[in-house]
Amino acid sequence: MNNNILKGKRGIIFGALNENSIAWKVAQQSVLEGAIITLTNAPIALRMGEINKLAEECKATVIPADVTNMEDLKNLFEKSQDILGGKIDFVLHSVGMSINVRKGRHYTDTDYDFMHKGFDISAMSLHRVLQTAYKMDALNEWGSVVALSYIAAQRTFPDYNDMADAKSLLESITRSFGYHYGKHKHVRINTISQSPTYTTAGSGVKGFDGFFEYANKMSPLGNATAEQCAEYCISLFSDYTKMVTMQNLFHDGGFSFTGVSTEVVEVLSK
Ligand SMILES: NC(=O)c1ccc[n+]([C@@H]2O[C@H](COP(=O)([O-])OP(=O)(O)OC[C@H]3O[C@@H](n4cnc5c(N)ncnc54)[C@H](O)[C@@H]3O)[C@@H](O)[C@H]2O)c1
Repeated sequence: MNNNILKGKRGIIFGALNENSIAWKVAQQSVLEGAIITLTNAPIALRMGEINKLAEECKATVIPADVTNMEDLKNLFEKSQDILGGKIDFVLHSVGMSINVRKGRHYTDTDYDFMHKGFDISAMSLHRVLQTAYKMDALNEWGSVVALSYIAAQRTFPDYNDMADAKSLLESITRSFGYHYGKHKHVRINTISQSPTYTTAGSGVKGFDGFFEYANKMSPLGNATAEQCAEYCISLFSDYTKMVTMQNLFHDGGFSFTGVSTEVVEVLSK
């Protein structure tokens, strides 16, 4: 799609690791729709080098930032405004990581240092990004911030582990900061709760194939792809959604409101 609905807008995209990343597709779509952007990721992720391909394609500068480091975030907003030539209109927060998930620790055997770090990277980081931008007055009026969430914030998915708690916190910060940023600067903040998607972070969850297939069979429209998620992000960055804020928006083909589907009943019937 290319309707130029982000023409003249400046954006910062967090979290493009490789071609499968949701953020990768959002970066491509933003530029197709007329935006200019900077890209950012943790220094360790940048060392893998894949993001440079995307940067070239999008004519974007890559600025390293660990989302748990306030100095990095300040530098990111300063440099982005310099490079893009003004205040920022949209931000994608597409960042998540649980060390307990990575190390296969069961939820009932959580390591609290890992949990703490996971919450900081996956949830508190949104507060850090917003507070940095707020104090620097780095976002334009009617700017839009979107973070990515998952339905485990509302319903139990046992193997999603402590990421479920991180996503609940992420959605809560969206509401709390959304109030203040809306009231004082007319900036809107929302989360998109996306279908299971084959990416590095997604596939790291135990039993991901099962998650994916179950959701696909349950959802009347099937699972939403990363490209479709990017299109939804673009609509939220655009001026067509100016009055949407503090929401968790399900982008899941109807999964969240389906009790059971005929496909799932068929599989389970004797
Ligand atoms: N893939 C799914 O099934 C799915 C479903 C719903 C929501 N999400 C969410 O979408 C977002 C993007 O994930 P993805 O699926 O595209 O996977 P991904 O692995 O491609 O992206 C995760 C990103 O987080 C970055 N990151 C990790 N620690 C960081 C740090 N300290 N500082 C800065 N960046 C850091 C990684 O480098 C990576 O780029 C995450 O919030 C994820 O939870 C994913």
